Amino acid sequence: MEILHVGKMKIGGCLGCEYCHTKGEGKCVQKDDMEKVMPAYKEADMIVFASPIYYFDLTAQLSAAMQRVYAIGKPAAKKAVLLLSSGSAGTHDGAIATYKGILAFTKIEDAGIITAAGEENGSEAKLAEIREFAKKL
Ligand SMILES: Cc1cc2nc3c(=O)[nH]c(=O)nc-3n(C[C@H](O)[C@H](O)[C@H](O)COP(=O)(O)O)c2cc1C
Repeated sequence: MEILHVGKMKIGGCLGCEYCHTKGEGKCVQKDDMEKVMPAYKEADMIVFASPIYYFDLTAQLSAAMQRVYAIGKPAAKKAVLLLSSGSAGTHDGAIATYKGILAFTKIEDAGIITAAGEENGSEAKLAEIREFAKKL
């Protein structure tokens, strides 16, 4: 298992320049920390996306990392999971819609979504729920 903290990396948004699909032959024109993420996209059987909710959506850093997969078309993974934390309840819909849209587009199975809001974040009950969930993956 490899953990990649994309929130602490420098990952630019996709420029839509099509370099990757032309001269770049699958390589992005931007030389940034996405070079650390790409091997995982190419090799991982399963991806666990985890993000706090920032303004009703995934963080900009995770969104950029998800969109930059465009360079190689789709990840190798067969399954994915989404973990979301937020300050308030009822703020996860935008992030879930993005995740589900990307999974449908790249033909990856959704193995489950866990959300936590407010005091649930880091609580023993939520951690127990995640541990039980992880055993079934
Ligand atoms: C820039 C920013 C935007 C945020 N936007 C939202 C939001 O739209 N809805 C919400 O419920 N919480 C929002 N929050 C709160 C975070 O989601 C919350 O602090 C975070 O999930 C806590 O997770 P952590 O304990 O894993 O860091 C925002 C926080 C920041 C810093």
